[in-house]
Amino acid sequence: MAPSGTMRLKIAGRELLLERADGSEQSIPALWLRERCRDAVSMDLRTQQRLQDPSDFDLGLSLLAVAQPTPGVFRVRFSDGHEASFTAEDLLAEAALPLHSHDTPEPQLWDASLREVPRVRWRADPPAAELFAWLEAFLSYGFIIFRGVPTRPATVLEVGAQFGFTRVTNFGALFDVRSTPEATDLAYTAVSLDPHTDNPYRAPVPGIQLLHCLANETRGGLSTLVDGFAVAEVLRRAEPEAFEILTRTPVRFKYLDAQTELTASAPPIELDVTGALRAIHFSPRLDFVPLLPGAQLTAYYRARREFDHRLRAPDFELRFLLEPGDLVMFDNCRLLHGRTGFDPAEGLRHLQGCYIDMDGPRSLYRVLRRQLARSPAARRSA
Ligand code: OGA
Ligand code: ZN
Repeated sequence: MAPSGTMRLKIAGRELLLERADGSEQSIPALWLRERCRDAVSMDLRTQQRLQDPSDFDLGLSLLAVAQPTPGVFRVRFSDGHEASFTAEDLLAEAALPLHSHDTPEPQLWDASLREVPRVRWRADPPAAELFAWLEAFLSYGFIIFRGVPTRPATVLEVGAQFGFTRVTNFGALFDVRSTPEATDLAYTAVSLDPHTDNPYRAPVPGIQLLHCLANETRGGLSTLVDGFAVAEVLRRAEPEAFEILTRTPVRFKYLDAQTELTASAPPIELDVTGALRAIHFSPRLDFVPLLPGAQLTAYYRARREFDHRLRAPDFELRFLLEPGDLVMFDNCRLLHGRTGFDPAEGLRHLQGCYIDMDGPRSLYRVLRRQLARSPAARRSA
């Protein structure tokens, strides 16, 4: 009998067959394995970056021998003479990743019935396990609300820096959201804002927005959030033709002021190569559909209306008051945000916002996962 932990391995043509614990088999082509050699000839061990151009490997590469010196670790000899060791665990984990996965929590789609609104008390430099839990919630739901963030101006930049690198734009490192007579953006007035994604006119679009409430003395100005991915999936099922039109019509978005002129084109619903949702680009105050043949244009307007009506429906919307010290951080490529109108005569409503990108929180999540796997005690103390 094989020692425990030993797995069955065999060579089948140009592929290696690994047997999983449940008895099913994973076949791995030799060339795919060859690209993953982790020895000093194949890669620089410090950076783990490849030293060889994998396009130079023989397209007909095969495996000559495979052995398992210790359970779960195997050594193969390739037909180009190279030998290398692998762990079955690493290979099976990589093989199991869905095609579009970021190797971070998958989005958990939500609507107005969401009960577990991710809302936590802020503290600067939290222990690893707590920070990891925040990131898990943020990556799953696409947002998190922090309470008790000091209402010192510019603290939003410190919160942003906890998760990534803040992005400076023509609005500056941070922007003040309050009603002013010289507004360069409707956000800086008191009007209501329908659900939108921010800055679809930029390349690249900001990945994450943070909004920190410094003051709110008005009765209006409620914040709204909608899970654009949840709405898009409902549209995909209910109105497949509308969904399809919105994935292939490149809409131009524009921003204009005395010093700046930004435009970018994107379909309102952007898919990745597997057909999964990648981003929503939606801002009814800034979008300009190109002049298409009449019937196509009518079909687009109908599709946009189907999408927009759902985005504005109460069944999908979370609505809440941001109080001084509250800060909402959300995925600007997945969620849409907005606010109800308010009367500036009632008092001051002042938010400060900034942008960071999605790679920051995703990287931090993976680094913390690695750390916590090494020290499970830190994880329990959360
Ligand atoms: C914005 C925005 C919402 C608010 O500044 O992009 O949408 O609550 N603000 O004022
Ligand atoms: Zn906005």
